[in-house]
Amino acid sequence: MVSSAAAPIETETPALVLRDFGDGPFGIYIHVPFCATRCGYCDFNTYTAGELGTSASPQSWLEALRGELATAAERFAALPTATPEVATIFVGGGTPSLLGGDGLADVLDSVRANFTFAVDAEVTTESNPESTSPQFFERIRAAGFTRVSLGMQSAAQHVLKVLDRTHTPGRAVAAAKEARAAGFEHVNLDLIYGTPGERDSDLDASLDAVLSAGVDHVSAYSLIVEDGTALARRVRRGELPAPDDDVLAARYERIDARLGAAGLTWYEVSNWAAGDSARCRHNLGYWDGGDWLGAGPGAHSHVGGVRWWNVKHPARYADTVARGGLPAAGWEILTADEQHTERVMLTVRLRTGLPLNELAPTESAAATRIIADGLAVRSGDRLILTDRGRLLADGVVRDLLT
Ligand SMILES: C[S@@+](CC[C@H](N)C(=O)[O-])C[C@H]1O[C@@H](n2cnc3c(N)ncnc32)[C@H](O)[C@@H]1O
Ligand code: SF4
Repeated sequence: MVSSAAAPIETETPALVLRDFGDGPFGIYIHVPFCATRCGYCDFNTYTAGELGTSASPQSWLEALRGELATAAERFAALPTATPEVATIFVGGGTPSLLGGDGLADVLDSVRANFTFAVDAEVTTESNPESTSPQFFERIRAAGFTRVSLGMQSAAQHVLKVLDRTHTPGRAVAAAKEARAAGFEHVNLDLIYGTPGERDSDLDASLDAVLSAGVDHVSAYSLIVEDGTALARRVRRGELPAPDDDVLAARYERIDARLGAAGLTWYEVSNWAAGDSARCRHNLGYWDGGDWLGAGPGAHSHVGGVRWWNVKHPARYADTVARGGLPAAGWEILTADEQHTERVMLTVRLRTGLPLNELAPTESAAATRIIADGLAVRSGDRLILTDRGRLLADGVVRDLLT
C-alpha cells in the first residue's frame, strides 16, 4: 500500500482513503471470475469449477457482489460530491455468459439497487460464443443490457485449437447475428492475431467472418505470451514459436486496412468502430480520465486519483465482504507524476490524441522528434499517431516519458 500526505476525506478499515469524484464520467466494472475451461494464453483472474471446488460458486459470488456494491454506495454517499449517475456499466471476466441470462439480470439488478443509471447508460457484457443463444440475448436485452462483446479470436479451426478455444469457427459470427436480431445495436467481436501457425489467409478468413457479422465494433489484440500461462510454457519448451514482431505489424496493417475499407475506423490503437456512437464509452472512461468502481474479485477501482484493487480469490473476496468494508487488498493515491504518466500512456493511443499543452518541456522536445520521425502529427493542440506510429505506440510512449 502506498499513501501520501494528501488529507484523507474518509477512512476505510484497513485504512482505505477515498477521495471525491473527479469531473469525468463515472462507470462501474463488474468482474465475473468464472470460466468453463482456461484458455492457454489467458492470465485473467478467472477460475474453473474444478479449481474452485466448493470454496466459491456463482451464488456466493453474487451475494458478495451485492454486499460490495452496497458498501461502496454507502462510502461514496459520505463524500462531499453526490455520487454521479452511472454512465457506463461493463460486466467482464472471466465468462459472464456462464451466469446465463437470468444471472446477468440479477447482476444488473444488484447495481441498480445501489446506484442510479444515466438514462442513456451504456451497459455491456462480455460473452463467450459457446455459452450464448437467441434466448440468452433476448433475456439480457430485456434486462437492460445495451451492448455485447463476444470473444471470437479467429475463424480458423487450427488457430482456435492452439488458443484452446472451445467454440467452432462459425459460432462467434452466429452469436453476433443472434445478438443483433435480439435488438442489440452495439456488438463487438474480439480478435487475436499472430497466434503461432496463423497464416495470412487465416487472418483474411477471420476478417471476412467479422465483416459478415454486421457488428459495429471490433477489438483486435496481438497475442501476448503472458508469463505463467500454459502458452508461455509451450513456447519455452519450443513446442510453439513466439509471435514474430514483423508478422504482427503486417497483420495489424491488414486488419486496419480491411476494417477501414468497411467503414470501421480506429479510435484507439486496438479498437475500431463504425462511427462515434459505436465506440465503447466504458473503455473511453478508463483511457480518458474517468472514475470507476471495479467490483468483484481482483477488480481495480479509480476514483478521484485513488486506486484500489480487490482481493483476487473468489473465496477470500466473499469472506472479506462478509466481514464488512470494501474488499480492497491494497490502495494508493496516485501522485501528480503518476497521473501524468498514465494519462500520456493512455491518451496517446487514442485517435483524439494527446493534449500537447499537458507535456513537460522535455516531453515536448520528444514530441517534436516523434513528429519529425513520422510517428505522429500535430493536429491543433493534439499529438496524434500516424499509421506507422500506431505500430510503434509503445516506443512512442517510452520516448515521450524518458
Ligand atoms: C479476458 S477475455 C474475457 C472475455 C471472454 N471470456 C472471452 O474469452 O471471450 C477478453 C479478451 O481479452 C483478449 N485476451 C486475453 N488474453 C490475451 C492475450 N494473452 N493476448 C491477447 N489477447 C488476449 C481476448 O481477445 C479476449 O476476448
Ligand atoms: S480468454 Fe476468456 S474464456 Fe478464455 S480463460 Fe480467459 S477469460 Fe476465460
